[in-house]
Amino acid sequence: MFESATIVKSQMDLQKLKHLRFFGLRFNSLLSKGLLLILTALIIRTLFFPESFTFGVRKLHEFDMSESKSGNPRMKFLEVPQIVWGLNNQKIAFARACLTARLLNRTLLMPSLSASLFYKEIDQLQPISFDKVFQFHKFNSLCKGFVQLGQYSDRQNHSDIVIIQKGSGRRWTSDRDLDQLNNLKHDESETIRISGKNPFLWHDHWPVKDYAKVFECLVLVDEISKEADKVVAKIREFGSKSNIIPYNDPINNPIPYVAVHMRIEKDWMIHCKKLEHKLNVSEICSSKEEITNRVAKIPGLKTPSILYLAVADALLEDGSILNGWGPGLHPVEKKKLGVTEIYKNHPYLIKSAIDYEVCLRADVFVGNSYSTFSSLVVLERSQKMVRMGVKKGCGMDTKWPSYAYNLKGEFEGPRPWMTEFSDSSLQAISYGSNNVSC
Ligand SMILES: *[C@@H]1O[C@H](CO)[C@@H](O)[C@H](O)[C@H]1NC(C)=O
Ligand SMILES: *[C@@H]1O[C@H](CO)[C@@H](O)[C@H](O)[C@H]1NC(C)=O
Ligand SMILES: *[C@@H]1O[C@H](CO)[C@@H](O)[C@H](O)[C@H]1NC(C)=O
Repeated sequence: MFESATIVKSQMDLQKLKHLRFFGLRFNSLLSKGLLLILTALIIRTLFFPESFTFGVRKLHEFDMSESKSGNPRMKFLEVPQIVWGLNNQKIAFARACLTARLLNRTLLMPSLSASLFYKEIDQLQPISFDKVFQFHKFNSLCKGFVQLGQYSDRQNHSDIVIIQKGSGRRWTSDRDLDQLNNLKHDESETIRISGKNPFLWHDHWPVKDYAKVFECLVLVDEISKEADKVVAKIREFGSKSNIIPYNDPINNPIPYVAVHMRIEKDWMIHCKKLEHKLNVSEICSSKEEITNRVAKIPGLKTPSILYLAVADALLEDGSILNGWGPGLHPVEKKKLGVTEIYKNHPYLIKSAIDYEVCLRADVFVGNSYSTFSSLVVLERSQKMVRMGVKKGCGMDTKWPSYAYNLKGEFEGPRPWMTEFSDSSLQAISYGSNNVSC
């Protein structure tokens, strides 16, 4: 892009030159001398500017791209298909695309996420740009030296592109997939476009800590995190207004809350029963009774306590979700808090991102170890603990305790849960797993 701009500029200068020569003859000598000076200046400019212009571009890229040392100034890109499905499937898919770009030593062209949750109707997936959800520059500064995002406008040659079809089917093994990627390392095309399956379905070649590194660089845009602030403020306010908890020091000692991510809606129940059958285990599906019983028995949980129930909207209808919780536990959900308005204005993806943030910030989190949503919440909470120097933190003694209600722990309570960062694949900790490492 910059190159062609320079060419256009030079052509304009040449035309000016021709004009000047043509008219120059008729002017008096003083004017001619002046024109000669301008001419010389223009010639010099035409001859030397393109060089310095390109040099400027090179400098700019070096600044952006930390990696591109003097050897090869040209940036190379990876383009991936639109990222789809649930918020956390999308985050995993995005991270996988990033790690693929890292393997290929390429910049990932900022992908489209999907604002809606339609599985089959491709035309209803509502593409939404990554930077409408997460901060673009923040991502690049936090992930500098690890992986970088680029804009489509960064590309210089739109036809210098190779399209790679991801293999599929049973014979397309993980090893073959990795071979394909390794061969692509030598590809000199400016852009590699991977077509076919969405990145969530690609083979996984990376350890948990690499995914965690990418997640760490994902920071919500202010508009969304402010919505989460509002919900969290409402939860804490509920505690003080209803005099459930004496509200002494809201700034230094805000009212604590427990977030419970309840998967008990019909769709999930069908899915988890199938999964239990397939994996021959019986601890994936938890009924509401099992969840309420286990949460009431969390060893060391202080009461009274506010419970924020993160549930599918369909379960808010009749309010029965609020009944049956243990003594001293005060459940609230969107409707009771009066925050449905905050959610109403947003598409699925943003709603989900707000709920995720509310769970992330909770003093205690309880979720299902087979849910991707719960697993990523726990992963990020565990990261916070690791940053504070905690190696293994299970239970109430730690700052950001998490629990899995689908697994039985001590005293009939839920099992404490912390992410094991040394696992060699995300599968081991994040979906279809009862590995909670506590
Ligand atoms: C990665 O790409 C940059 C330029 O984009 C280049 O300078 C660097 O040498 C490459 N690294 C490897 C290991 O190929
Ligand atoms: C752009 O890429 C195509 C395909 O690789 C190549 O043929 C063409 O010369 C390139 N154009 C420029 C201006 O580099
Ligand atoms: C399922 O697991 C149980 C024990 O957990 C075992 O006895 C049984 O053989 C398993 N069934 C299959 C089909 O693997």
